[in-house]
Amino acid sequence: MVRWVVCSYDEASKVEGGPFLLHELRQAAVTVGGYSGQRDVERGDCTLLVRRGEGPLVQVKEGMFSCGGTMSLPLVLSALGGDAGEALAIAFTPQEVSEAKSAGMKVLAVASQTDAVTLADSGADIIVDSLLALGRFHDAGSFEAQLLKLEDTEGQSGTVRYGRNLLRPVSSPLFSLERAITLAIEMATNVWKNAYAPYSRFKVGAAVVSAATGRVYSGCNVENGSYGATICAERNAILHAIAVEGVIGIEALVVASKGNPLAPPCAQCLQVISEFARPETQVHLVSVDGKSHKVYQFGQLLPHPFVLE
Ligand code: THU
Repeated sequence: MVRWVVCSYDEASKVEGGPFLLHELRQAAVTVGGYSGQRDVERGDCTLLVRRGEGPLVQVKEGMFSCGGTMSLPLVLSALGGDAGEALAIAFTPQEVSEAKSAGMKVLAVASQTDAVTLADSGADIIVDSLLALGRFHDAGSFEAQLLKLEDTEGQSGTVRYGRNLLRPVSSPLFSLERAITLAIEMATNVWKNAYAPYSRFKVGAAVVSAATGRVYSGCNVENGSYGATICAERNAILHAIAVEGVIGIEALVVASKGNPLAPPCAQCLQVISEFARPETQVHLVSVDGKSHKVYQFGQLLPHPFVLE
Protein backbone atom coordinates (compact mmCIF):
# COMPACT_ATOMS: atom_id res chain seq x y z
CA MET A 1 0.00 0.00 0.00
CA VAL A 2 1.32 3.45 -0.91
CA ARG A 3 1.22 5.64 2.21
CA TRP A 4 3.83 8.21 1.25
CA VAL A 5 4.41 10.06 -2.00
CA VAL A 6 7.54 12.14 -2.58
CA CYS A 7 8.28 14.43 -5.50
CA SER A 8 9.91 17.60 -6.68
CA TYR A 9 7.26 20.16 -5.81
CA ASP A 10 8.57 22.57 -8.47
CA GLU A 11 8.18 19.98 -11.24
CA ALA A 12 4.94 18.45 -9.94
CA SER A 13 3.25 21.84 -9.81
CA LYS A 14 4.34 22.59 -13.39
CA VAL A 15 3.58 19.33 -15.18
CA GLU A 16 0.20 18.63 -16.76
CA GLY A 17 -2.09 16.98 -14.21
CA GLY A 18 0.40 17.61 -11.36
CA PRO A 19 -1.51 20.20 -9.30
CA PHE A 20 -4.69 18.14 -9.64
CA LEU A 21 -2.88 14.97 -8.50
CA LEU A 22 -1.42 16.71 -5.43
CA HIS A 23 -4.87 17.97 -4.56
CA GLU A 24 -6.43 14.52 -5.01
CA LEU A 25 -3.72 12.92 -2.87
CA ARG A 26 -4.45 15.39 -0.08
CA GLN A 27 -8.17 14.61 -0.30
CA ALA A 28 -7.35 10.89 -0.21
CA ALA A 29 -5.24 11.43 2.94
CA VAL A 30 -2.02 10.19 1.31
CA THR A 31 0.97 11.94 2.87
CA VAL A 32 2.89 13.94 0.26
CA GLY A 33 6.41 15.27 0.71
CA GLY A 34 7.96 17.65 -1.77
CA TYR A 35 11.20 19.50 -2.21
CA SER A 36 11.63 22.87 -3.81
CA GLY A 37 14.55 24.95 -5.02
CA GLN A 38 12.72 28.12 -4.00
CA ARG A 39 13.34 29.85 -0.69
CA ASP A 40 10.00 31.31 0.34
CA VAL A 41 7.59 28.85 -1.27
CA GLU A 42 4.59 27.67 0.78
CA ARG A 43 3.68 24.01 0.97
CA GLY A 44 0.39 24.13 -0.97
CA ASP A 45 -1.10 20.64 -1.13
CA CYS A 46 2.04 18.97 0.28
CA THR A 47 1.93 17.60 3.80
CA LEU A 48 5.60 18.48 4.15
CA LEU A 49 7.89 20.62 2.04
CA VAL A 50 11.68 20.83 2.14
CA ARG A 51 12.62 24.17 0.65
CA ARG A 52 15.94 25.78 -0.20
CA GLY A 53 17.62 27.40 2.80
CA GLU A 54 21.00 27.54 4.52
CA GLY A 55 22.90 24.81 6.33
CA PRO A 56 21.64 21.32 7.18
CA LEU A 57 18.09 20.00 7.07
CA VAL A 58 16.08 21.78 9.80
CA GLN A 59 12.41 22.14 10.58
CA VAL A 60 11.34 25.78 10.33
CA LYS A 61 7.66 25.36 11.13
CA GLU A 62 4.84 22.84 10.99
CA GLY A 63 5.26 20.83 7.78
CA MET A 64 8.15 22.96 6.55
CA PHE A 65 11.85 22.12 6.47
CA SER A 66 14.72 24.04 4.98
CA CYS A 67 17.92 22.63 3.58
CA GLY A 68 21.07 24.19 2.17
CA GLY A 69 22.58 20.93 0.96
CA THR A 70 21.71 18.59 -1.86
CA MET A 71 18.07 17.63 -1.88
CA SER A 72 16.76 14.30 -3.05
CA LEU A 73 13.62 12.20 -2.88
CA PRO A 74 15.07 9.88 -0.18
CA LEU A 75 15.87 13.00 1.91
CA VAL A 76 12.23 14.10 1.67
CA LEU A 77 11.08 10.62 2.67
CA SER A 78 13.31 10.66 5.73
CA ALA A 79 12.02 14.13 6.71
CA LEU A 80 8.51 12.62 6.48
CA GLY A 81 9.61 9.66 8.60
CA GLY A 82 8.22 7.41 5.85
CA ASP A 83 9.02 3.82 5.03
CA ALA A 84 10.50 3.23 1.55
CA GLY A 85 8.57 -0.04 1.23
CA GLU A 86 5.31 1.90 1.28
CA ALA A 87 6.47 4.98 -0.62
CA LEU A 88 5.98 6.11 -4.17
CA ALA A 89 8.48 8.49 -5.74
CA ILE A 90 7.31 10.67 -8.60
CA ALA A 91 10.51 11.26 -10.57
CA PHE A 92 11.24 13.61 -13.46
CA THR A 93 14.95 12.93 -14.06
CA PRO A 94 17.05 9.75 -14.41
CA GLN A 95 18.94 10.79 -11.24
CA GLU A 96 15.71 11.03 -9.25
CA VAL A 97 14.68 7.60 -10.58
CA SER A 98 17.92 5.90 -9.58
CA GLU A 99 18.16 7.59 -6.15
CA ALA A 100 14.60 6.60 -5.28
CA LYS A 101 15.09 3.04 -6.60
CA SER A 102 18.29 2.62 -4.55
CA ALA A 103 16.36 3.75 -1.47
CA GLY A 104 13.81 0.99 -2.15
CA MET A 105 10.88 3.11 -3.31
CA LYS A 106 8.47 2.37 -6.11
CA VAL A 107 9.08 4.90 -8.88
CA LEU A 108 6.55 6.53 -11.18
CA ALA A 109 8.56 8.52 -13.74
CA VAL A 110 7.10 11.35 -15.77
CA ALA A 111 8.53 11.66 -19.29
CA SER A 112 8.01 15.43 -19.44
CA GLN A 113 11.64 16.55 -19.60
CA THR A 114 13.48 13.24 -20.13
CA ASP A 115 12.48 10.65 -22.74
CA ALA A 116 10.74 7.49 -21.60
CA VAL A 117 13.48 5.12 -22.76
CA THR A 118 16.13 6.86 -20.61
CA LEU A 119 13.78 6.77 -17.62
CA ALA A 120 13.13 3.07 -18.23
CA ASP A 121 16.89 2.40 -18.40
CA SER A 122 17.29 4.15 -15.04
CA GLY A 123 14.89 1.63 -13.49
CA ALA A 124 11.51 3.37 -13.32
CA ASP A 125 8.64 1.02 -12.48
CA ILE A 126 5.94 3.01 -14.25
CA ILE A 127 6.38 5.66 -16.92
CA VAL A 128 3.72 8.17 -17.87
CA ASP A 129 3.73 11.13 -20.24
CA SER A 130 1.94 13.41 -17.81
CA LEU A 131 0.29 13.11 -14.43
CA LEU A 132 -3.07 13.19 -16.18
CA ALA A 133 -2.51 9.42 -16.52
CA LEU A 134 -3.72 9.13 -12.95
CA GLY A 135 -7.38 10.08 -13.01
CA ARG A 136 -9.73 10.80 -10.17
CA PHE A 137 -9.56 8.66 -7.05
CA HIS A 138 -11.29 8.99 -3.75
CA ASP A 139 -9.07 7.21 -1.28
CA ALA A 140 -5.64 5.62 -0.93
CA GLY A 141 -7.09 2.28 -2.07
CA SER A 142 -8.34 3.52 -5.41
CA PHE A 143 -5.06 5.42 -5.94
CA GLU A 144 -3.24 2.11 -5.44
CA ALA A 145 -5.62 0.41 -7.90
CA GLN A 146 -4.81 3.05 -10.53
CA LEU A 147 -1.08 2.56 -10.01
CA LEU A 148 -1.42 -1.20 -10.40
CA LYS A 149 -3.31 -0.67 -13.64
CA LEU A 150 -0.45 1.43 -14.96
CA GLU A 151 2.16 -1.10 -13.88
CA ASP A 152 3.12 -4.06 -15.99
CA THR A 153 0.86 -6.91 -14.98
CA GLU A 154 3.77 -9.33 -15.30
CA GLY A 155 5.66 -7.30 -12.73
CA GLN A 156 8.49 -6.35 -15.07
CA SER A 157 10.06 -3.04 -14.30
CA GLY A 158 11.36 -0.63 -16.89
CA THR A 159 8.50 -1.07 -19.31
CA VAL A 160 7.08 1.73 -21.40
CA ARG A 161 3.56 1.97 -22.76
CA TYR A 162 3.30 1.89 -26.54
CA GLY A 163 -0.38 2.30 -27.38
CA ARG A 164 -2.09 -0.23 -25.12
CA ASN A 165 0.99 -2.44 -24.78
CA LEU A 166 3.74 -2.38 -22.19
CA LEU A 167 7.14 -3.20 -23.65
CA ARG A 168 10.67 -2.96 -22.45
CA PRO A 169 12.60 -0.82 -24.94
CA VAL A 170 15.94 -2.25 -26.02
CA SER A 171 18.63 -0.94 -23.66
CA SER A 172 21.68 -1.83 -25.73
CA PRO A 173 20.53 -1.63 -29.34
CA LEU A 174 22.74 -2.78 -32.20
CA PHE A 175 22.84 0.82 -33.30
CA SER A 176 21.52 4.19 -32.12
CA LEU A 177 17.97 5.36 -32.86
CA GLU A 178 19.48 7.89 -35.25
CA ARG A 179 21.21 5.10 -37.18
CA ALA A 180 18.03 2.97 -37.11
CA ILE A 181 16.10 5.89 -38.64
CA THR A 182 18.69 6.34 -41.38
CA LEU A 183 18.32 2.64 -42.15
CA ALA A 184 14.51 2.91 -42.04
CA ILE A 185 14.63 5.78 -44.56
CA GLU A 186 16.80 3.66 -46.88
CA MET A 187 14.50 0.65 -46.49
CA ALA A 188 11.28 2.65 -47.02
CA THR A 189 12.76 4.26 -50.13
CA ASN A 190 13.82 0.86 -51.51
CA VAL A 191 10.56 -0.93 -50.79
CA TRP A 192 8.67 1.97 -52.44
CA LYS A 193 9.81 0.49 -55.76
CA ASN A 194 7.88 -2.71 -55.00
CA ALA A 195 4.56 -0.95 -54.33
CA TYR A 196 1.71 -2.54 -56.25
CA ALA A 197 -0.36 0.49 -57.26
CA PRO A 198 -1.78 -0.08 -60.77
CA TYR A 199 -5.02 1.75 -59.91
CA SER A 200 -3.90 4.93 -58.17
CA ARG A 201 -0.32 4.90 -59.53
CA PHE A 202 0.58 6.31 -56.11
CA LYS A 203 3.42 4.33 -54.61
CA VAL A 204 4.21 4.41 -50.91
CA GLY A 205 7.02 2.78 -48.91
CA ALA A 206 7.16 2.61 -45.13
CA ALA A 207 9.43 1.28 -42.39
CA VAL A 208 9.00 0.95 -38.62
CA VAL A 209 11.70 0.79 -35.94
CA SER A 210 10.74 -1.76 -33.27
CA ALA A 211 11.21 -0.43 -29.72
CA ALA A 212 12.00 -3.78 -28.13
CA THR A 213 14.70 -4.82 -30.57
CA GLY A 214 15.70 -1.76 -32.62
CA ARG A 215 15.10 -3.80 -35.76
CA VAL A 216 13.56 -2.18 -38.83
CA TYR A 217 10.70 -3.63 -40.89
CA SER A 218 9.46 -2.31 -44.20
CA GLY A 219 6.27 -2.52 -46.25
CA CYS A 220 4.73 -1.03 -49.40
CA ASN A 221 1.14 -0.40 -50.47
CA VAL A 222 -0.61 -3.28 -52.20
CA GLU A 223 -3.74 -2.29 -54.09
CA ASN A 224 -6.63 -4.47 -55.07
CA GLY A 225 -9.19 -4.44 -57.87
CA SER A 226 -11.89 -4.22 -55.20
CA TYR A 227 -10.24 -0.91 -54.14
CA GLY A 228 -11.45 -1.37 -50.56
CA ALA A 229 -9.10 -4.31 -49.92
CA THR A 230 -6.05 -2.12 -50.57
CA ILE A 231 -3.40 -2.21 -47.86
CA CYS A 232 -1.35 0.90 -47.15
CA ALA A 233 2.43 0.80 -46.82
CA GLU A 234 2.40 1.75 -43.12
CA ARG A 235 0.04 -1.06 -42.14
CA ASN A 236 1.99 -3.50 -44.29
CA ALA A 237 5.22 -2.58 -42.43
CA ILE A 238 3.50 -2.96 -39.05
CA LEU A 239 2.01 -6.35 -39.99
CA HIS A 240 5.44 -7.45 -41.23
CA ALA A 241 7.06 -6.48 -37.90
CA ILE A 242 4.37 -8.24 -35.85
CA ALA A 243 4.60 -11.37 -37.98
CA VAL A 244 8.30 -11.58 -37.04
CA GLU A 245 8.40 -10.27 -33.45
CA GLY A 246 4.86 -10.53 -32.08
CA VAL A 247 3.53 -7.37 -30.48
CA ILE A 248 5.74 -4.37 -31.18
CA GLY A 249 6.26 -0.83 -29.92
CA ILE A 250 6.87 1.69 -32.67
CA GLU A 251 9.86 3.85 -31.78
CA ALA A 252 9.91 5.53 -35.19
CA LEU A 253 8.07 5.31 -38.50
CA VAL A 254 9.16 6.43 -41.97
CA VAL A 255 6.79 7.05 -44.88
CA ALA A 256 8.38 7.44 -48.32
CA SER A 257 6.49 8.82 -51.31
CA LYS A 258 7.31 10.78 -54.42
CA GLY A 259 6.78 13.89 -52.29
CA ASN A 260 5.30 17.25 -53.16
CA PRO A 261 3.39 17.06 -50.95
CA LEU A 262 4.94 14.41 -48.69
CA ALA A 263 2.38 11.70 -47.85
CA PRO A 264 1.47 11.44 -44.18
CA PRO A 265 -0.14 8.22 -42.88
CA CYS A 266 -3.85 8.14 -43.72
CA ALA A 267 -6.44 8.26 -40.94
CA GLN A 268 -6.94 4.49 -40.89
CA CYS A 269 -3.20 3.92 -40.60
CA LEU A 270 -2.94 6.53 -37.82
CA GLN A 271 -5.51 4.56 -35.84
CA VAL A 272 -3.57 1.30 -36.39
CA ILE A 273 -0.28 3.03 -35.49
CA SER A 274 -1.86 4.34 -32.24
CA GLU A 275 -2.24 0.75 -31.04
CA PHE A 276 1.57 0.39 -30.93
CA ALA A 277 3.02 3.90 -30.74
CA ARG A 278 3.77 6.53 -28.13
CA PRO A 279 2.73 10.18 -28.57
CA GLU A 280 6.50 10.84 -28.87
CA THR A 281 7.04 8.26 -31.62
CA GLN A 282 8.88 10.00 -34.45
CA VAL A 283 7.15 10.03 -37.82
CA HIS A 284 9.48 10.89 -40.71
CA LEU A 285 7.97 11.79 -44.06
CA VAL A 286 10.52 11.60 -46.85
CA SER A 287 10.57 11.89 -50.63
CA VAL A 288 12.18 9.03 -52.52
CA ASP A 289 14.58 11.42 -54.28
CA GLY A 290 15.93 12.27 -50.82
CA LYS A 291 15.18 15.98 -51.28
CA SER A 292 12.38 16.48 -48.73
CA HIS A 293 12.18 15.30 -45.15
CA LYS A 294 9.72 16.37 -42.46
CA VAL A 295 9.56 15.06 -38.90
CA TYR A 296 6.49 14.96 -36.67
CA GLN A 297 5.65 13.41 -33.35
CA PHE A 298 2.87 10.87 -33.61
CA GLY A 299 0.83 12.83 -31.03
CA GLN A 300 0.78 15.81 -33.42
CA LEU A 301 -0.71 13.69 -36.21
CA LEU A 302 -3.29 11.91 -34.04
CA PRO A 303 -3.75 13.73 -30.74
CA HIS A 304 -6.86 11.81 -29.69
CA PRO A 305 -6.64 8.16 -30.76
CA PHE A 306 -9.48 5.83 -29.98
CA VAL A 307 -8.27 3.44 -27.28
CA LEU A 308 -10.22 0.34 -26.33
CA GLU A 309 -9.04 -0.60 -22.83
N1 THU B 1 -1.48 4.87 -49.28
C1 THU B 1 -0.55 4.38 -48.44
O1 THU B 1 0.09 3.37 -48.71
N2 THU B 1 -0.34 5.04 -47.27
C2 THU B 1 -1.01 6.16 -46.88
O2 THU B 1 -0.94 6.56 -45.74
C3 THU B 1 -1.86 6.86 -47.85
C4 THU B 1 -2.33 6.01 -48.99
C5 THU B 1 -1.70 4.17 -50.55
C6 THU B 1 -3.00 3.45 -50.58
C7 THU B 1 -3.29 3.43 -52.06
O3 THU B 1 -2.66 2.30 -52.61
C8 THU B 1 -2.62 4.66 -52.61
O4 THU B 1 -1.72 5.10 -51.59
C9 THU B 1 -3.57 5.76 -52.96
O5 THU B 1 -4.45 6.03 -51.94
